[in-house]
Amino acid sequence: MDRRFLLVTGKGGVGKSTVTALLAAASAAAGRRTLVCELNTQERIPGLFGKPPVGPRVTSLADNLWSVNIEPAAALEEYALMKLRFRTLYSLVFENPLVQRFVGMVPGMNDLLLLGKAFNHERERETPGDMRSPLAWDCVIIDAPATGHGVTFFRLPKVILDHVPVGNMHDEAREMWSLLTDPRRTAVHLVTLPEELPVQETLELHRTLAGQLGLPIGALWLNQMPPVWGTPATRAAFADLAEPEATSPVRGAWEAGRVRGLRENQAARYAETLAALGLPTLHLPTLYRREFDHAAVVDLLAAARAQLAGGAA
Ligand SMILES: Nc1ncnc2c1ncn2[C@@H]1O[C@H](COP(=O)(O)OP(=O)(O)OP(=O)(O)O)[C@@H](O)[C@H]1O
Ligand SMILES: [Mg+2]
Repeated sequence: MDRRFLLVTGKGGVGKSTVTALLAAASAAAGRRTLVCELNTQERIPGLFGKPPVGPRVTSLADNLWSVNIEPAAALEEYALMKLRFRTLYSLVFENPLVQRFVGMVPGMNDLLLLGKAFNHERERETPGDMRSPLAWDCVIIDAPATGHGVTFFRLPKVILDHVPVGNMHDEAREMWSLLTDPRRTAVHLVTLPEELPVQETLELHRTLAGQLGLPIGALWLNQMPPVWGTPATRAAFADLAEPEATSPVRGAWEAGRVRGLRENQAARYAETLAALGLPTLHLPTLYRREFDHAAVVDLLAAARAQLAGGAA
């Protein structure tokens, strides 16, 4: 949490937006002015704070907390206006259908715009002597795309750096890459589930992001762990129970308990496999709720805090 630039990634649907919301809530609660960036997606973050989608304008969600859904067209307009300075010039060039079609055709252009805009938010900071503006972020959190797409995304500045030898774009890419690879400023958080494919994909993702690209990894979030049941004593007593007859009225309950135990063992084995990565790891329990809303974020954050404090999750 002491870094300014946090990225959250993992396989599709494992809980990236949930972990982003947890990090955002913790950062804002610590009094840090926090901005969450979603990247041109169906917004999840405002909903997790009980708010409607915010679109491409930075919008307040709670005390110390803002969010934005970065859209390529808005990012391009902002970037072009920043460089060209005049709206008439912008309209002349960028609202020209030919130019628009060209921009749409360049592979990776949309990703570059999203990433570039996210980086610009990181650069928005207090300058000495300035009034504290709402744009001076203490922490910028990116809800990054799912693995697969995500790796291309993380690699993008490096690809540009290697292939565009000089000029404005090279300089921008170099700045982006130096931020992404700086362990004092950046942490990439990995999210996964205690299941075969997400675990394999996480090992692979870690090899690519940490091994090949040299990105600083933050924590590993093992989401949707089976909630721990009972106390060690009640669990031991259950394990010692004799198997009830097939016709016994408690047979169903006994089988349910047994299956639950198997599921817990399986999750523990996956946790052990992932421990080989040597990352600080947080377990988030599965919540069985009708609504997955702000209350869920509050409860999961409490579970994470309990682990950090060394207590039971
Ligand atoms: N700990 C949990 N307990 C119960 N349900 C959960 C938990 N974490 C996530 N979920 C469920 O999984 C859904 C997906 O979570 P989330 O949106 O955070 O995943 P994601 O990785 O961001 O997905 P995507 O790849 O689509 O962006 C949530 O809407 C919620 O219903
Ligand atoms: Mg998401």
